[in-house]
Amino acid sequence: MSVNPFKIYPLRGLMDEPKVKSKSPLKKIADIAGRAVANDVFITPLSLAKIQIDLIKSDECDIWMDPFKNNGSYYKQFPESWIVQHQWTEILEGRDFFTYEGHVDIICSNPPFSLINKCLEKFIELSPRVISILVGALNITPRRMEMMEKAGYVQTEFRMASWKPIVGMAVIFQWEKADSLNPREADEIKKNQSYIGRH
Ligand SMILES: C[S@@+](CC[C@H](N)C(=O)[O-])C[C@H]1O[C@@H](n2cnc3c(N)ncnc32)[C@H](O)[C@@H]1O
Repeated sequence: MSVNPFKIYPLRGLMDEPKVKSKSPLKKIADIAGRAVANDVFITPLSLAKIQIDLIKSDECDIWMDPFKNNGSYYKQFPESWIVQHQWTEILEGRDFFTYEGHVDIICSNPPFSLINKCLEKFIELSPRVISILVGALNITPRRMEMMEKAGYVQTEFRMASWKPIVGMAVIFQWEKADSLNPREADEIKKNQSYIGRH
């Protein structure tokens, strides 16, 4: 058979593939809510973890921590330091974050979505200067925003990204301890926060 270079030939196999209809967001949320056991293992793309890390102002003395390391999307991209040892925990490797007691300056991670309240409570207990998390937009609730505010944190970054495993938007949320900022800067940041209270 002679091939006409100007004709578009269908790619057999690819073109025969049945079309899979993607689920609606509401159906996806209902599926997640109906799970008997939460699926908490999602590996963050290196590019997304790097953007989140780069939003944080730090110096060489800062101890960074990824409490939920898994394969290290965050941990292996933390800024190198010759002065301090960065920290990690990962339940699959026998290190439970909720029993961790060391000092940390910066927590930067993608936490298990079914344990967000417990995570925020533990973050507050450890009292780092910066807390940065990647979660679904639906995980950010008024109660959680107010809990952080009450603990003395102000929200200093908010970015949205599209990441397939997350229904709707994935968001990077960063808080800093208000008393670590200079007072004028803290006032300015408070005025520009994304969360403007209950109405
Ligand atoms: C959403 S994944 C994020 C993994 C990794 N940080 C990343 O972004 O690619 C959450 C991780 O938290 C781990 N995890 C769940 N409970 C934990 C706990 N109590 N202590 C430490 N790690 C835990 C899970 O095993 C899982 O690997």
